[in-house]
Amino acid sequence: MSEQYRFVVVANRLPVDEIVDDDGKRAWTRSPGGLVSALQPTVRARRGAWIGWAGGTGEAPEPFALDGMWLHPIALTQQELDHYYEGESNATIWPLYHDAVETPAFHRHWREAYRRVNQRFAEAAAELAAPGAVVWVHDYQLQLVPAMLRELRPDLRIGFFLHIPFPPVELFMQLPWRTQILKGLLGADLVGFQRPGGAENFLRLTHNLGLEPEGDRVVVDGRTVTARAFPISIDVDEMEKLAADPHIRQRAKQLSEELGGHRRLLLGVDRLDYTKGIEHRLKAYRELLAEGRLSNQDVALVQVATPSRLRVAQYRQLRERVEREVGRINGEFGEVGLAPVHYLFRSYDREELLALYLAADVMVVTPLRDGMNLVAKEYVAARTDNSGALVLSEFTGAAAELPEAFGVNPHDVDGLKEAFVAALETPAEELGERMRRMREHVCAHDVGRWAREFLDALGEPPG
Ligand code: ADP
Ligand code: G6P
Repeated sequence: MSEQYRFVVVANRLPVDEIVDDDGKRAWTRSPGGLVSALQPTVRARRGAWIGWAGGTGEAPEPFALDGMWLHPIALTQQELDHYYEGESNATIWPLYHDAVETPAFHRHWREAYRRVNQRFAEAAAELAAPGAVVWVHDYQLQLVPAMLRELRPDLRIGFFLHIPFPPVELFMQLPWRTQILKGLLGADLVGFQRPGGAENFLRLTHNLGLEPEGDRVVVDGRTVTARAFPISIDVDEMEKLAADPHIRQRAKQLSEELGGHRRLLLGVDRLDYTKGIEHRLKAYRELLAEGRLSNQDVALVQVATPSRLRVAQYRQLRERVEREVGRINGEFGEVGLAPVHYLFRSYDREELLALYLAADVMVVTPLRDGMNLVAKEYVAARTDNSGALVLSEFTGAAAELPEAFGVNPHDVDGLKEAFVAALETPAEELGERMRRMREHVCAHDVGRWAREFLDALGEPPG
């Protein structure tokens, strides 16, 4: 039997993705998304094991050590990639849990693959976990794992954290196999959500199983399950260290100069996802240019769009719409050598991302729905001199923690436009005060604290 671990994380993705280039050469890159950003420092600090998918199909790579973590890849077949990952996870559950901003699709054969893959993750965790170990399962792709794992290993402490919103009861009830999902989650000792509303929705739903929750607890087969909010956060130290690095500060200066020197910079950084409100943001920006309230001489928008889930139809269509709109804005309002929108469809390393955060006068975060949104917190953490403004959608988890941001409803285009202008025109002194308060909050609530609070509540043994 291979070595066993006292702390095991189970998430659909490993922190690194295996990519194979045209010549068949293999390499590892950082995986996309907020889950990886948040979990990596947590697992590293505990020298734990991480079970996840390495990004390809066919045989899984051999387990290996990275940065003090033990990474254990899980294999997916091409059909499982289609049905479990792109289908059930990202075309059913993802849109449904995000207020159905795109229409969820329901297919029975997707569900079977989801169940099978969840069982595979549970079996791997059962093998890798030492007696009495803590196993922490993550996110919407693996909601059946807690109950499956409990069945295999009743000795474990099992936690589950949902990184995305948990939907209102009426939406959740659309899931044809809602009962199995609820029972799957109830296999955990502690179920964590981004916001208290998610925990409340979940507890309310347990009535459907004939259970009677009291406060934040519910008793299932004589076992107590707790459901609570644990708002996730970021590695503030990492951000501050990078923000102080002279090379990165120099790069930020260079970026500002390349964008035209005196032009104020608005920045968006998102996975290219329909939940992020990128189209709403572009529309507001175009109208401001068309009305002459903003001038291409004075401002520029940089939109970083990380490629994401491009085999799912809704993501491909979004990409086409966004790129058409960017082309339209640049065609109508651009001049030779001076583009209104700089659209960057790629992943960046942390250094380049930090340089962008430092160069940006206004960070625009306008999701239609987002569990938390770590980009907003990263921007705040990076602005160590308290400069800069944050435009932040009310429909993000982060909005509840950052009331000093310029709050917006992204569906209200006029409101968005007002917020952009206000963020650009508010005097530096007031912006400084707002940023100082936001920084105070983010610095006091970093990802280390999030993990500690969750694991304390789960009863992680000390040491
Ligand atoms: P989500 O988890 O939905 O992608 P979040 O805002 O919570 O959204 O987290 C996104 C994470 O991915 C952040 O840590 C951010 O720094 C990182 N990120 C986003 N875009 C890029 C990019 N183009 N290159 C590198 N990292 C990125
Ligand atoms: C969000 C989800 C994560 C997911 C990430 C990237 O952060 O909560 O579970 O890993 O997006 O998406 P992907 O489908 O590429 O893993």
